[in-house]
Amino acid sequence: MSNDKKEYVVGIVGASGAVGEELLLILEERKFPLKKLVPLASSRSVGKSVTFKGKEYPILETTHDIFAQQGIEIAFFSAGSSVSEKYASSATKAGALVIDNTSFFRMHENIPLVVPEVNPEDIKKDSTIIANPNCSTIQMVQVLAPLHREFEIERVDVSTYQAVSGAGKKGMEELVLQMQKFFAFELDSTIPSAFPHQIALNLIPHIDTFLDNDYTKEEMKMVNESRKIMHTDFALSATCVRVPILRSHSETLTIRFKKEANANRAREILKSSQGVIVCDEPNKNNYPMPIMATNTDETFVGRIRVDNFDKHILHVFCVADQIRVGAATNAVRIAEKWIALSK
Ligand code: A2P
Repeated sequence: MSNDKKEYVVGIVGASGAVGEELLLILEERKFPLKKLVPLASSRSVGKSVTFKGKEYPILETTHDIFAQQGIEIAFFSAGSSVSEKYASSATKAGALVIDNTSFFRMHENIPLVVPEVNPEDIKKDSTIIANPNCSTIQMVQVLAPLHREFEIERVDVSTYQAVSGAGKKGMEELVLQMQKFFAFELDSTIPSAFPHQIALNLIPHIDTFLDNDYTKEEMKMVNESRKIMHTDFALSATCVRVPILRSHSETLTIRFKKEANANRAREILKSSQGVIVCDEPNKNNYPMPIMATNTDETFVGRIRVDNFDKHILHVFCVADQIRVGAATNAVRIAEKWIALSK
């Protein structure tokens, strides 16, 4: 019998979170072959439910036994590194494929780190855990990989403008609350908790913790993850900045190539790249912006131009929805590729 129509028992660890909720929407939109949905979160969420295809599903507590008890075959983890560290092996022991949205497994040697438009070949039929890269890395490699194939990257310098959704629901709530307080002339009384400083009407050049080399963990994720995904060892330095935007990350990329770069050729290449939309008509004020990318599954790229002083350098601006492209959509696309291999 053909297993073309096989449907899966899908668990979502972190179903009450920003990425978990988006995963539910995307599974529905993409008509994911789902036999049963098992929403999981912490004990705090027991008694609450999520809505999927118009039906209510009670949230269950994440425990070591729940994966086997519920017969979960694909488990999306999006509840933070410590939860993945604690429970992913229980899921794999129960026979589930784990697609992990946290940073916990990303740099583990034998665990594939995948952006399906860039390195789908790293997904294997017998993979037990597949890691989803950091949100800033995903949109960046979607732009870098096709350009690398043409011009060969030597070095990248990236500055990010990252939305508050990267800090989960509490990050989004904090920005909204601070803006409300600003308009009520009460902002002084707001004590930041999701970020080290007030985020409303501010920028914070600090995402994740600082390391001994003066970079942040977020910045080093962009270095290490992009090299692992693209199987290359080009130089990369990042400056990651939190901005008061709700849910789309923007990035300025300065890319130095081994070959001379050409802006028109770069536009052509990116136009034919999967998951990328080129909007680069400056005379019509058409360039990527966070509000354009929000709630979409594409990475928008524009402001493509050759450096004034070095013909091997291209400057590019790209934007993508952090919760979708940077997390949930990428995770579902990984699952779809894995399912296609299993046929
Ligand atoms: P809960 O709502 O029960 O705390 P976000 O990234 O938007 O902050 O969401 C984090 C997600 O991770 C939420 O669904 C949250 O569930 C879940 N979570 C946090 N801690 C745990 C835990 N110890 N076990 C399982 N899920 C957890």
